[in-house]
Amino acid sequence: MLSASRAARLALLGTGLLMAGATALAPAASAAPSGGSTIAAYSLAAPRVTAASGLVARAVVPAGAECPALDVADGKGQQAAVPMRERPRPQRTAPAFDAITVCSVAIPSGAVTASIHGRAIPARMPSRIDRLALLGDSGCRIASWGVQDCSDESAWPLARISAAVASDQPDAIIFNGDFFYREAACPAGQQSECGSSPPPVTGLPFTDSAYGWIADSLLPMAPMLAAAPMIVTRGNHEACYRAGNGFFYLFDPREGTSDTCAPVLSEGTLTAAPTVPTPTYAIDLAVAPDRTLRLAVVDSAGGNDVAVDAYAAVQRVAYERAARLTAPRSGRESWLLTHRPIFGIVSTDFAVPGLPFLEWGSADQQAASWGLLEPYQMVFSSHQHIAMAVQIPGQPGQLILGNAGTLLDPATGYPLPAAGPKAVPGQAYPAPSWAWVSDEFGYAIARPQADAGAWRLDMRDASGSTFARCGLRARSLYCASGS
Ligand SMILES: [Fe+2]
Ligand SMILES: [Fe+2]
Repeated sequence: MLSASRAARLALLGTGLLMAGATALAPAASAAPSGGSTIAAYSLAAPRVTAASGLVARAVVPAGAECPALDVADGKGQQAAVPMRERPRPQRTAPAFDAITVCSVAIPSGAVTASIHGRAIPARMPSRIDRLALLGDSGCRIASWGVQDCSDESAWPLARISAAVASDQPDAIIFNGDFFYREAACPAGQQSECGSSPPPVTGLPFTDSAYGWIADSLLPMAPMLAAAPMIVTRGNHEACYRAGNGFFYLFDPREGTSDTCAPVLSEGTLTAAPTVPTPTYAIDLAVAPDRTLRLAVVDSAGGNDVAVDAYAAVQRVAYERAARLTAPRSGRESWLLTHRPIFGIVSTDFAVPGLPFLEWGSADQQAASWGLLEPYQMVFSSHQHIAMAVQIPGQPGQLILGNAGTLLDPATGYPLPAAGPKAVPGQAYPAPSWAWVSDEFGYAIARPQADAGAWRLDMRDASGSTFARCGLRARSLYCASGS
């Protein structure tokens, strides 16, 4: 509810804010430049220290346009126009992001509708979760070694998946990292597939740009961005030498994080900022009056997938904080969100002759999280470009969804490993009891079941049809193909 005192406070803080009943809108909204030239508008789930409502509104507008107002209304029809503020453009990234301005503001508690330039965005965190959409790894792959056809919705189906997610009317959406894949100029000879894709800006120590993010995420994701609040993790494609600058400018919900990946200037040379985990935070979703799902959002953008190295100790801090945030509490169940899986089986098709092959990926994550997974009913990850579920006895079920549009991993070569991953010297997890793999593009819809900790997860294809069903109960995940 937007109380009178809240309204007065907004009016004092804001510029030209009116609170005059159901029909009046603030001048700030009607005087917005360019008649609604918003490139993208969306709502990000945020830690409570960032937004008391748990939700931040973002608008991406052309550079030079002023930040618009966030128009909100409460359940009694009281309206307000809340000024949005410019989010600082990452330093030393010019001209990569010079085309856009990103605007941000915490959505007031009590808002039931919210819009920017007349475009509705999710106004509040759900009071009760019935459908939760899960997906990750979405961008159109453009690399020197291969490309997707970014203009073919079968070859790169993110726009279809986004529309299908929206049509499922989820209460919230978890996007588990790896937004950005346009990391190279379109190779000569493949212009018919990716010729119109914005290339990286030459001379900068990273690969993303405003136009790259517009093409790879903001436009194709528009339907799902309008559908529900987004809970977002950072993938390794959002490392600082890749697309970290755009990620922190556009999609990190926290205040003051835009410069996390700002390049470092030393002796006249720009180099990429180091990739280190940002602090873990928690998002709570109400499932029932006496039941809450806590999501521990871990930044696993860095780390070695094939060997445990010194980064594991750096990464461990993120998992320790996640475990503290999810300490057992009556009525609370928890999932760990981390882009790189803890228990992901790597296809033997990736084996390189003459080199040792590790059937379990994400070595640094296994070491970093060793002994810290007790709080979770499920670990949800992406990173591997496939749909996968793995159960290791005594551990939380591992769900992997990295099939939201980017080029898929091999469909074959996933025999059940005879032994569990070796996390740290002398320590190994038990052998997995089962695993399920599908190379279908898509996403999942998770629906809570009556028992605490129990969920049904429907695997949807790019058209929104169910191709497999999974169940989570007592930390055990099980999947079976078929509708
Ligand atoms: Fe990926
Ligand atoms: Fe990844």
